[in-house]
Amino acid sequence: MERVLKERTFSGTQDPEVTERELKNRKIARKAAAQGIVLLKNENQVLPLKKGTAVSLYGTGASKTVKGGTGSGDVNERESISIYSGMKAAGYLISNEEWIKNYDIKYEKARNAWRDEILLKIEGKGEKAEDFFEVYSSIPFVMPAGSAVIKAESDTAIYILSRVAGENADRHAKSGDYFLSNEEQQMLADICQLYQTVIVAINTGGMVDLSFLEKFHNIKGLLQIVQPGMEGGNAFADVVSGDVTPSGKLADSWAFQYDDYPNAAKYSHNNGNVKTETYEEGIYVGYRYFDSFGIPVRYCFGFGLSYTTFDYSVTDIRVADEQVAEIKVIVKNTGEVKGKEVIQLYISCPNGKLEKEYRRLVAYQKTRELKPGESQELSLIIPIQQMTSYDEGEPGWILEEGIYRLWLGNSLAAAKLCGGIVLEQKLVLVKTENICLLEEKLKEFHQNKTICSEREQMDIIKLKEQKLPTVLMDISSLYTKVIIYHENKKITDPLAKEFTETLSNEELIHLAMGDPGKAQGGNLGAAGISVPGSAGETHQCAIEKGLASIVLADGPAGLRLMKYYNVKSNKIVSMPFQFSVEGGIFCPEADDLPGERYYQYCTAIPVGTLLAQTWDIELLEEVGQMIGEEMQYFGVTLWLAPGMNIHRNPLCGRNFEYYSEDPILTGTIAAAVTNGVQKVPGCGTTIKHFACNNQEDNRMESNSVLSERVLREIYLKGFEIAIQSSQPMSMMTSYNLVNGVHAANSYDLCTKAARNEWGFKGFIMTDWTTTEQDETCTAAGCMRAGNDLVMPGNFCDRDNLKKELLEGVLNVEDLKACIARLVHIIWQSNQYENAIPYQEKKI
Ligand code: BGC
Repeated sequence: MERVLKERTFSGTQDPEVTERELKNRKIARKAAAQGIVLLKNENQVLPLKKGTAVSLYGTGASKTVKGGTGSGDVNERESISIYSGMKAAGYLISNEEWIKNYDIKYEKARNAWRDEILLKIEGKGEKAEDFFEVYSSIPFVMPAGSAVIKAESDTAIYILSRVAGENADRHAKSGDYFLSNEEQQMLADICQLYQTVIVAINTGGMVDLSFLEKFHNIKGLLQIVQPGMEGGNAFADVVSGDVTPSGKLADSWAFQYDDYPNAAKYSHNNGNVKTETYEEGIYVGYRYFDSFGIPVRYCFGFGLSYTTFDYSVTDIRVADEQVAEIKVIVKNTGEVKGKEVIQLYISCPNGKLEKEYRRLVAYQKTRELKPGESQELSLIIPIQQMTSYDEGEPGWILEEGIYRLWLGNSLAAAKLCGGIVLEQKLVLVKTENICLLEEKLKEFHQNKTICSEREQMDIIKLKEQKLPTVLMDISSLYTKVIIYHENKKITDPLAKEFTETLSNEELIHLAMGDPGKAQGGNLGAAGISVPGSAGETHQCAIEKGLASIVLADGPAGLRLMKYYNVKSNKIVSMPFQFSVEGGIFCPEADDLPGERYYQYCTAIPVGTLLAQTWDIELLEEVGQMIGEEMQYFGVTLWLAPGMNIHRNPLCGRNFEYYSEDPILTGTIAAAVTNGVQKVPGCGTTIKHFACNNQEDNRMESNSVLSERVLREIYLKGFEIAIQSSQPMSMMTSYNLVNGVHAANSYDLCTKAARNEWGFKGFIMTDWTTTEQDETCTAAGCMRAGNDLVMPGNFCDRDNLKKELLEGVLNVEDLKACIARLVHIIWQSNQYENAIPYQEKKI
């Protein structure tokens, strides 16, 4: 096939007016936000609130609603709708305009003071990206609380509690962060005293302490809006007014108190050790912990209220021959308004050789919008591998004999026993080799064996007493697999490999790194050359040979580009890097730049956690496709998203970018978003950060220490699911080490697990500047591991590759295999005329 390179034009438009694209995409962002908002409390049906009602809005998030997190997870949109604007536009009468006006003044003052403080520090240190992040995270912006509350002309007050967080720093279990500050407490106390009805909205990327609910009894409504993107205020009004019936469900368990989380005391900086993070809770992460150990939570995983009610019941359970079990469920809207429901299926696996968590999510589905009285039949599919556990002793995924109990509900707590699957014999479904072994033995949490087996027996008795359907799974009908491991250098596409034979060693080395770009000086999270604000691009050295250079831009809350840039004498005028890293905080004034202006306004969608709270695969595909279309428009090939690390602890500074504490929800959502993006010709996703990037403090050097079983069942599972059901074009390794080996240099992760075991066909890249931080992580080490591209690329990487090639420490065949995988994807990119959607076969 002849490949014709597209001619590059300057990205974006010279027309400053709002475009059709922006208008269309805002609607999708609004829909996604409204679908993801979770209604946690609705006493006396305080919600919905009639349009036209008078309300008072308080809290930092009233007029300064936080749309998303900071750092590379930020997005530079044209304009964001605050809750204040959204509610006003929907027709509510805002009774405390004066308070809001005052707040805006205070906010601007605090923000300017903060910016000046940062600029001063940066000037002292020189403009380097890592300095910037360091400075930025060491001076987090604390939003002011606002003036004292005076009762306004309304009975209802809405208090919006907001927080900002971002990469390179974890949050703290202290006042003003996880806990309310004294000022916030006081304000909430005053509001509760002055207003008859109080509604609270949580506008934070991660969890916060909710014990104020016990103190103030007139908080009748509680909404979890996370950070809802640029249309957050409109989406909020949609839910508050009842235009949209809430249907979001929590993607995490909300404990009563921080200390209830199993790793609370030792997480990140809490124990003074940010070097080694031991995952002692083992498989007991999130609800797997609370549910197995019987620890009560405030709001359970999968929980969310509606304005209507639903009935649901199982109509059929069967084991199909395509390695799946199928549960049919009929759902009926029994209430008085339209709405959607999320039906969740959990499974209890029998304890045997391996100890099991009490229940795990295995399938879920959201209904369409059902009118009152309307029903829908859903078919929930459990892939057999979601019933397996990992046996490190005889390495492989095993199904143990016994009765697998099924639980169906609209939350974990509401899930009721509904049937069982019987397995009469043990089966090794997939035989693997061990990976990422522990350097030393690790002491992990265990359940009490007697309690476990008593609980299992009770469930079985209940199954019988209630005459619930059980089906036999005939193991002879299941196909099993023994993984054959091919070496890194053998895993290539023959045509792309042939192409690499035409490249000189120098070209191979260039292609193994991003293009540092003369103008930018390299090393930045905004090192893109052709599309300003993009995170980087691949090397241009082989363009003459027909190999395009592709552009990579962040996510996950949309596409992160500069809002605008200038072109003078046919060249892009360079901008200070802060512009892009900081989402406009450092944005130069419009007149500061010479030349003609180009605009690149992108759509800020809700952050990852809120997207996960939709539990809506179809909608997330639509969101993904919308992002893909923006990529196409701006000339971006790879989106550096979805972020899919597990919410191991509420304080991780990047939780907002990630989906959930649960790997199945995480994996299926990442797959849906990828499937959407990759519907667009030549566009693809980059699932990240592979793997165990669960801490931001000291993120470049922290060592995640965990057992192989836990690694595979909890932290890799989502990646495995996403790869097998969506074949993302690429993947990004994380900064941290896993059991003593940098993820970027891990042969076990890149070659053994991703490629050989899961069949990943794309290419792998490092996170930005990974190889610069610690000399044990090298560019040549990446190539040996099967990590194909070092981003954004710098001269030390080049020297290291040259030296190791020359000395024969790096085998040129390994390097060629990496470049061949990169070429294989570049050839399918939107940088060529007539590109088609990426076609790699899904499993
Ligand atoms: C982040 C990545 C991001 C990259 C490029 C890094 O700091 O960890 O998630 O994609 O920068 O901006």
